[in-house]
Amino acid sequence: MKTVGAYGHAPLQRKNNVNGENRYKMTNELVVRTERLSKSYVADGIETPAVRGVNLKIRAGEFAALAGPSGSGKSTLLHLIGGLLRPTSGQVWIEQQALGGLTPDQLARLRLRRIGFVFQAYNLIPVLTALENTEFVMELQGVPEGQRRDRALELLSILEIAEYADRFPNKLSGGEQQRVAVARAVAARPALVLADEPTANLDSESGQKLMDLLRRLNHERGVTFLFASHDPRLLNQVERVIELHDGVIG
Ligand SMILES: Nc1ncnc2c1ncn2[C@@H]1O[C@H](COP(=O)(O)OP(=O)(O)OP(=O)(O)O)[C@@H](O)[C@H]1O
Ligand SMILES: [Mg+2]
Repeated sequence: MKTVGAYGHAPLQRKNNVNGENRYKMTNELVVRTERLSKSYVADGIETPAVRGVNLKIRAGEFAALAGPSGSGKSTLLHLIGGLLRPTSGQVWIEQQALGGLTPDQLARLRLRRIGFVFQAYNLIPVLTALENTEFVMELQGVPEGQRRDRALELLSILEIAEYADRFPNKLSGGEQQRVAVARAVAARPALVLADEPTANLDSESGQKLMDLLRRLNHERGVTFLFASHDPRLLNQVERVIELHDGVIG
């Protein structure tokens, strides 16, 4: 198994060794920093500025959400922070690494090691069962099979979908698929989880259970969460709400 050190990121290697409880809460280390971050889409010759000059800091251990009306730039900002979109201008740092300086390969490795994604299109792999999907990122990380399976089953059972472990995604409801996507994102023990509307397809009871689980991971394991949502049930439970309007914070 490769170590993070092999990628040449000393600060990441140090943090990757941490498995203590709530260590992150005690630090002021930044997991995310953006500086004058902007993204414009160009479609049919028309330029749409989606994110405009965003300066944002997310400290280790935060449980925070981007809020704002539809079209305000929440998903775009989340994708920029996750290195899934390249900015038009400005910079993103994850821990101390500037994403703009990385090759696509280095960026992919940083994402694999440090970031969990739960996005609106769940991106489950159709030919893998719920259990195999949950194990997928851990497998890429080189987590041994037995350990991987135990951790995946534990998470699926916390999320109350263990009985569907052997089902393929097209035999699961939207909410069930969403829970598998959450299990997959957190199973790999990332430092940062980016979740776009994670409660959107859940009824209030399932949504509450999911938020309780994520809160527990935040408290007990120090996983930093950044959500994008306009769901008041989610926004009521985060520690910090960052409002976006027309691509601008504030
Ligand atoms: N691929 C794209 N091409 C062109 N314009 C886009 C693209 N994706 C988003 N936009 C535009 O960028 C702006 C921000 O979109 P974004 O998806 O980030 O908003 P959002 O806050 O996540 O909205 P929602 O709450 O509806 O998910 C919108 O005006 C949108 O129409
Ligand atoms: Mg969105």
